[in-house]
Formats: sequence, structure tokens, C-alpha cells
Amino acid sequence: MKNILVIGAAGQIGSELVPYLRKLGYMTVAGTSGRTPLPAHLAEGPSAVVNLMDTDVLRQTVDYFQIDTVMNLAAILSATAERDPLKAWRVGVDGVIGLLELARDKKLSVFTPSSIGVFGPSTPLKFTPQDTVCRPQTVYGITKVTDELLGDYYRKKYGVDARSVRYPGLISYVTPPGGGTTDYAVDIYWQAVKTGSYISPLARGTYLPMMFMEDALRAAVELMEADPARLKHFNGFNVSAMSFAPEEVAASIRRHIPNFELGYAINPMLQSIADSWPDALDDSVATEEWDWHSRYTLDDMTDIMLGEIRKQLAADPT
Ligand code: SER
Repeated sequence: MKNILVIGAAGQIGSELVPYLRKLGYMTVAGTSGRTPLPAHLAEGPSAVVNLMDTDVLRQTVDYFQIDTVMNLAAILSATAERDPLKAWRVGVDGVIGLLELARDKKLSVFTPSSIGVFGPSTPLKFTPQDTVCRPQTVYGITKVTDELLGDYYRKKYGVDARSVRYPGLISYVTPPGGGTTDYAVDIYWQAVKTGSYISPLARGTYLPMMFMEDALRAAVELMEADPARLKHFNGFNVSAMSFAPEEVAASIRRHIPNFELGYAINPMLQSIADSWPDALDDSVATEEWDWHSRYTLDDMTDIMLGEIRKQLAADPT
């Protein structure tokens, strides 16, 4: 991996992945389409207007920058996807298959994140193993299972280097996620600092796997740099860091904001998606095949999130 194109560079993951890759010394092109490119990305390296759905422009961009690796972060998250399943399929599957075709032609490595959304109510949800039942009930999950299978198929049939991890809910302070079931775990920190209280859309006791962004970025790079001779799986690695329910993140926040109040107003759609997803994942296969280990615990993450959000609000209280 040398010259990387990030698709979806202005989104939750992309906004942080671009500077992360550049700091590691990779030539990284920040690719955006619908969203305004981030000033820091423009100032610190090359950028391009690319849309996953427009393979002609993608091909030109790959040629122009001599790209060898594409990190494709374009996605419609679970709750938004339920409102427009066809769009979710177009971006999540048609877009990915177009990219895999380009990868086949141009010998690209491709990273398209998968998700805990691949699981469903018939999966063992307590400490979900790597190889298990994947029968999701959301269209988002259906697209992600399809992507994992397409990645394996293109690897076996055409030798395309496609790899992916199943991200849990990702928590960060730079760019908000949009339309996911796990978004509450970001919102709760902002509301804790701004108002001292939060109304959770998920019920007490709803455990979900979560991860701090820096672990997620490192997972992507470590997997893409992993020795292929050691990999048996290539797509859909479980990666895990922490698992918590709303009341536990609230308790972690109270170490800094003792009067923080948590209430509940259950969103039935989000709750039913969350109930069909694992509480926690077994990621021992990722550890075995490419030495994956998370670094951030819930309390580590809370300390950083609250500190950074306070700094941002002090600089710009709006
Ligand atoms: N964070 C995603 C969602 O909630 C899961 O991958 O949709």
C-alpha cells in the first residue's frame, strides 16, 4: 500500500483516516463527492472529486494519481438505509461491485468496511464468533454481507486483494456519524458537555459493540498491511474493543460530570435493529491472523471525548 484513494473522505471515518494515513507517510488522495472537502485535507495533500457510482471518474483518478489502494468509506448507515433501501443497495452493492471491477482491471487493493450489521437475530449474540450465522434483517446488513461475499469472490476468481473488518459502532469527536443505530454513543458525549443530560433512544441494558476511532483507523491499516500468507479470512474480520449499554457510558461520563442525567425515549426502529445485533464480538481470529488488539477502553475514550468536545465548544460555542 503506497498511493491511496479514500472515497468518502469528508465522512465520519474518512475525515480522520486521511490525516492518519498521511501521517504514516502514505500518499493519500482525499476523495469527496456530495460533501464539501475539508480545508485541512485540501491544505495537506491531494484531493479529488470522486463518486463511488461514477467508475469513469474513479478510473481517471486512479490513473492520474497512480493509486494502488482504494479505501471505500461511502455507505448509507443502518437507520437511513431503512428509509431508502434501494439507494442503500445501489451505494452498498452496485457501487462496491463497480469498484471491484475496477480493482480487477487495475490490480488495486480494496478496503470496504463491513459491520456488526451483518448479524441478525439468529446469530449467537453474546460473544459472536467469527464464522457464524449472518442473516441480517436490515438492508444495511444485507449490503454488508453481500460486500463480504463479493470481496471473497473477487479474490478467489480474479485475485483481487479485497479485505474488510466488521466495524462496531465507531465513536469520534471530529465528524458526526449520520443515520446509524450506534450514533447515540457519540451524541451522548456532546449533550453531556452542552446540557448535562441526554435522552437515549435505546433502552437500558442494550449492549452493543463499540470502538474509539483511533482503534478503527489502525485496524484498517494493519489489516491492509497484513501478510497475505497469514490470512485465512480476508473479508469480514470481527474486531472488538468494548461493549456497553447506555447506562454504562453515562456512568463513565459521571466520573467527569457527576450530575449528568440520563433519560430514555425509545425509538422502536433503532431498538429493534440494536436488539438484532451482537452485545459483543469474539475477535480472536483477527488477533490470530494479523495480531489485532484494541487499545482504548470505555473510560479512556470518555476522557478523550469529553476533553476534545470541551475544547471545540470553547473555541466555537455554536
Ligand atoms: N454504526 C453502524 C450503524 O449503526 C453500524 O456499522 O449503522
